[in-house]
Parts: sequence; structure tokens; C-alpha cells
Amino acid sequence: MRVDRLVLKNFRNYEDETLDFTDGVNIIYGKNGMGKTNALEAIYYFSQGRGFRGGSREAVRNGCDSAVIRLFFNSGGRVQEGAVYFDGRQKKITINDIELKKTSQLVGRFGCVLFTPDEMNLVKGAPEVRRRFLDSAIIPLKPAYLPLLLRYNLILKQKISLLRAEKYSMLPIFNQQLAEAGSRIILTRRGYVERIRSFAAEAQTDISSGAERLYMSYSSGVRGEGGLEGIREAFLKKLAELEESEKENKICFVGPHRDDLIFRINGKSARSFASQGQQRSVVVCMKCAQMELLREETGEYPVLLLDDIMSELDRGRREFLIERIKGKQVIITCTEPDGSGAENLIRIENGRVAEKTVASPEKHGE
Ligand SMILES: Nc1ncnc2c1ncn2[C@@H]1O[C@H](COP(=O)(O)OP(=O)(O)O)[C@@H](O)[C@H]1O
Ligand SMILES: [Mg+2]
Repeated sequence: MRVDRLVLKNFRNYEDETLDFTDGVNIIYGKNGMGKTNALEAIYYFSQGRGFRGGSREAVRNGCDSAVIRLFFNSGGRVQEGAVYFDGRQKKITINDIELKKTSQLVGRFGCVLFTPDEMNLVKGAPEVRRRFLDSAIIPLKPAYLPLLLRYNLILKQKISLLRAEKYSMLPIFNQQLAEAGSRIILTRRGYVERIRSFAAEAQTDISSGAERLYMSYSSGVRGEGGLEGIREAFLKKLAELEESEKENKICFVGPHRDDLIFRINGKSARSFASQGQQRSVVVCMKCAQMELLREETGEYPVLLLDDIMSELDRGRREFLIERIKGKQVIITCTEPDGSGAENLIRIENGRVAEKTVASPEKHGE
């Protein structure tokens, strides 16, 4: 997977600008608030159909009615062009000029892995951070997953309204629907954890020079075995058990919206025991694992988007990450480029490309 060109029209703080990328390491640098993260967010739209901070309305440049992001990329040896059109609250996505009817049709088109400073909190942060990690990792792999999540969240919202209004006669129907959609989410997340586990463990062994064994598991209030049917039954049973308490508290106590991802290092809970450094290692390893799994699934390495994270990592972890991303296309944002190993440097100032430097081949030698 390779991003060749990004064209932004009235997207966030960009008026009309083109960013060109090369193979290998691309660095977007500039002072804070200049639009570096905005550029990464624009690229990210093509993997998830949505940004990672705010909705379609925030995407449009203040004072404008519409915005367009165009991405020229190379996937499976084919040059492709994607576009996202923002028009007020509406959003339209096209790939090679063909409009997608559903966002989930993006699955398998463009692969990227994003790594942001917010995720440094993955191990010790709230469970929501880990659920978000899982969901955004699964969405680009399974077309059915995003609609499933949206459906589950809708049913959940409606059930909470019912509980608040004390309309209990409708509760069994909602519980059925919740268990139906929820068990699929649980099964999918379990499956993903099972697949990413060995990649993450391998990376953690490597980053710790063999000292740390990482084990991750999916933790759910629903403990059904025996596939989808078993999970669904366990879910319904749990809902029945909790019914009185849910009515009393107006809260949905069980389901994928309460689940968590557990990390253990050498058998101990990483959330309770891991040092700052170990936590950071886990995050780096999870990102590397996500990248490997995407490659296994799609046959191609995704593009890596590293948003200002190098400064968050100490030298050892930075070097580990650089080693792992060698040979892949990476787009890094930072305030001060150290320049080392970058093929392409772009300085951004107030939503404009202020300076471009493409490394000449002779500088690299052979
Ligand atoms: N819809 C918008 N219209 C205009 N400016 C925006 C919009 N959304 C964000 N911005 C501006 O973009 C800038 C932040 O860009 P960002 O990419 O986060 O900067 P950084 O270079 O620090 O990563 C801020 O100045 C913010 O005001
Ligand atoms: Mg930023």
C-alpha cells in the first residue's frame, strides 16, 4: 500500500493544497496547530470512512459549505483515486469515481495503521480506550462489523430510553436484539484478539530482549462458549439475571459496551503492574501487530501514520519501531524533524506546504 498524493480542498485548516509522498519515510513537520494531524486525519478517512477527532461538520473549513479530500494511492499494484466529499452534514465517498453506497464498502480498499499520542494510554486508560482500539482495528477487516456496531449502539440507546421511561413490556424484545447483535460483536472481537495475540507477543519478546511475555485476552461479562449460539444464550441468561438491577438503576450492565481487553506481562496484570516503559512497549507492539495482521489479511503492508509519537518514545523503543517499519511507507508528523532516514520532508505552515525536500538518490548511496 502506498499513498502518492493527498489533495485537500477546504478540509479543516487547508484551503487548497497538495501533499506528495514517496516510498519509505515521509515527514510532515511544523509548529503546533499548523495542520499536521489534519493531514493524517484526511488520509485515515479512506480506511474507516470517518476521521478520528470529530465528525463531518468539523471537517469542513470554518466559513465554507463543503470540502473535498482526494487520495491517490497504490494498492495491489494498481493506481487508485479516492475522494470524500463533505457537504454540510452529508458525506459521500467515491473510489475511482464510483460512489460507495455504504461506508463498509471501503473495507479492503486502503489500509493504514494510525498511531497517536492518545493511545499511549492504552494499557492504563479507561476500558473505552481499549474497546476503541479493538473496534478501529477490526473495522477495516470486516465489512459487516461497523454496521453491527452502529446497530448495537442504537439498540442500547433505545433500551436505556425504555428503562428510563419504565416501559418494561418492550424489554424482552430489546434484550433479544441486544443479545443478537452483541454476541456477534463479542465473537468477532474474541476472534481478532486470538489472531493478533501471537504477533503482539512476538513483538513484546523482541522489544524486551526476551524478558517479557505478553498475553492478551478479551474480557466480557458474557462468558458463553461454543460459538455464536453459546454466546447469545449466555448473554440472554445474563440479561435475565440482571433485569431487576437494570430496571432499578436504568443502566445496561452487560454487553460489548462494557467489555475490556486485558494485557498480562509475565502473568501479571499490565494495568496494575506495568511500568511506564512497559506500557509504552505494549502500545508499540500492538501497533506492530496490527500492521502484521493487516498484511496477513490483505497481502499488503498498510501505510503507517505516526502522529507525533516519536517524541513520546525513548531511544530504545523508537529504534525498535523504526526497525519494524523499515521498507514500509510511513508518514510521520513532528515539530522538529531530525531528518535521519527521511526520503521526503514537508513543512506545513497554517494549512499550506511551506517547504518540500525530497532526498536525492545519491545522498542515500546504493
Ligand atoms: N474546520 C476547521 N476549519 C478551520 N480550521 C480548523 C478546522 N478544524 C481544525 N482547524 C484548525 O486546525 C489547526 C489544528 O491542526 P492540527 O492538524 O491539529 O495541528 P498540528 O500541526 O498541531 O497537528 C488548529 O489551528 C485548528 O483551529
Ligand atoms: Mg498534531
